[in-house]
Amino acid sequence: MLRLATRAVSATNAQPWEIAVLTGEALDAIRADNVEHLHSGVEVDETYGKLEGVYRSRKVGVAKQLLSAMGIAREDRARRDWWLERGYRFFDAPAAIILYMDCQLDISTYRFDVGCLAQNICLAAEEFGLGTCVEYQGVTYKDVIRKHLGLGEDKHIVCAIAIGYPDPDFPANGVVSPREELDAITAWYGFEPRT
Ligand SMILES: Cc1cc2nc3c(=O)[nH]c(=O)nc-3n(C[C@H](O)[C@H](O)[C@H](O)COP(=O)(O)O)c2cc1C
Repeated sequence: MLRLATRAVSATNAQPWEIAVLTGEALDAIRADNVEHLHSGVEVDETYGKLEGVYRSRKVGVAKQLLSAMGIAREDRARRDWWLERGYRFFDAPAAIILYMDCQLDISTYRFDVGCLAQNICLAAEEFGLGTCVEYQGVTYKDVIRKHLGLGEDKHIVCAIAIGYPDPDFPANGVVSPREELDAITAWYGFEPRT
């Protein structure tokens, strides 16, 4: 799977990605520390979560779809907390991949390439009957990831991918998130109108 996925494109063929694959006790230790951090109220940079306008409504929309599929009511604080916690536990998947890159590479340029790798991993996983979820939640606490992976400040932690055989009976797995109509997001130039 990784051999396939690392055929991803990268600017100047820099191949900026570095990959950690985790399972068993190694993954469980991160899950435990993540959940401990979550409940201890450690401050995190939530810049990416602060959205407005259409971006906010899309985020709220998919969250509502998921909570509805799971039968979790808005006012059910305990179940909502349980749902939130799952991301920090890599959705209890048996394995997870963490993608990171060297800080000597410009993050705004080369993060894109790591994203291409992430997408390839998800597609290659499908080929092997595996399901994935790309996630930031699992790598929210950079100190946790650095400690368990032995990474220094010279590495930028990009994202995690939870991976395992999908359970078709788990209600959230039946959710299909919507997409905008192509006309709303695409501009066409130089095309002749059909006569
Ligand atoms: C970079 C990135 C980070 C994400 N982080 C999370 C996350 O922390 N938790 C989560 O449940 N989903 C996460 N997702 C999944 C998105 O929420 C999901 O892709 C989106 O809602 C569209 O749903 P779909 O992938 O089922 O079409 C992430 C996806 C990407 C690409």
